[in-house]
Amino acid sequence: MERFDKSFTRQEPIPDDAIAAAVEVMRSGALHRYGADPSQVAALESEFAASVGSRYCVAVASGGYAMRAALAALGVGPGDPVLTNGWTLAPVPGAIAALGARPVLVETTGRLVIDLRDLAGKLDRAKVLLLSHMRGHLADMPALTRLCDDAGVAVVEDCAHTMGADWDGRPSGTWGAVGCYSTQTYKHVNAGEGGLAVTDDADLAAKMVLLSGSYMLYERHGAAPDASVFERHRDVVPNVSGRMDELRAAILRPQVAALPARREAWNLRYRLLEDGLRDAPGLAVVPRPQAEGYVGSSIQVLADDPARVPGFVAGCAARGVEWKWFGGDRAVGFTSAHRHWGYVAPQDLPRTDAVLARLLDMRVPLTFDAADCAAIGRIVREEAARTLA
Ligand SMILES: Cc1ncc(COP(=O)(O)O)c(C=O)c1O
Repeated sequence: MERFDKSFTRQEPIPDDAIAAAVEVMRSGALHRYGADPSQVAALESEFAASVGSRYCVAVASGGYAMRAALAALGVGPGDPVLTNGWTLAPVPGAIAALGARPVLVETTGRLVIDLRDLAGKLDRAKVLLLSHMRGHLADMPALTRLCDDAGVAVVEDCAHTMGADWDGRPSGTWGAVGCYSTQTYKHVNAGEGGLAVTDDADLAAKMVLLSGSYMLYERHGAAPDASVFERHRDVVPNVSGRMDELRAAILRPQVAALPARREAWNLRYRLLEDGLRDAPGLAVVPRPQAEGYVGSSIQVLADDPARVPGFVAGCAARGVEWKWFGGDRAVGFTSAHRHWGYVAPQDLPRTDAVLARLLDMRVPLTFDAADCAAIGRIVREEAARTLA
């Protein structure tokens, strides 16, 4: 019986030019962003802002930190309700909980995006939506933006899975008030850890810079507003240190420049896998709308019969093909569902639960080649025929 023996979590090496830049930073000894002149972090901020067409960018310690800073800059505090997706990963409700605020969960559709009908009914409950583009699936962004604008609800985008993606050509992260990205190893650029926040709002940018731990050194940033904007906030915004360091920024700059090519590389693999999985009995690949310019760094399928999923997952795993299932009883590894988040008040999400019971998720590392994608397709089709048909 055919077996697949490559790792689903193995990354590509860091590119040589990124390694050379990192070595130079280490030789200089100047690893702190405010001690380096010129600063790699400041350059990363201006390059990333330019790459998505935002005015401002702040580099921070993680994607989770970026979301927390964005919410805090918008004035979210203890007890405040914050709308967010019923299907996402734990750092998203975690960013809300970290501020003492209360996640209000919104249903998920069978296309794996926030349910706009459910959202419309809940918009009067909060001033902010933390919108997670979970596993790279983008909602109809013009429709969502109209709904939120009309209700006076500010949108923070969690783009941990959509760095390099767009809706109808407009980059993910530039639709809402703030776009937050992760540069953690399993995302679209790899610095081990790290995060970026972009915005066009000068006051939000200044507050996030101060929050990130700028002391009074904010004029050394790469894509921050004028000092006059900081005058309004410098003595009242707390310093909650979460800066990015020079080494990470040095590693990231060449990877950010390579993002369009990395998107192509991912989508090539995604389409091969999609073709291989399309005919698997008992499984349906989640459709992607025309307007969605996605980055296929993971692929999702829905099983017809949730009761048969554990047998299918075990059969694939025994042959080296890893699926994550969102319908499990307990959180496992990085995978969890809203009912596992004991720090969030339990909420009734019957449509999301019905989707999650059938939802399977596979990582698509760039270390896979076309032959690997074909092998995965063959194994999945055989296991599906054996366990799901
Ligand atoms: C959907 C989602 N949002 C946000 C994050 C947060 O990123 P970080 O690990 O950089 O805090 C993650 C990380 O796994 C994620 O999967």
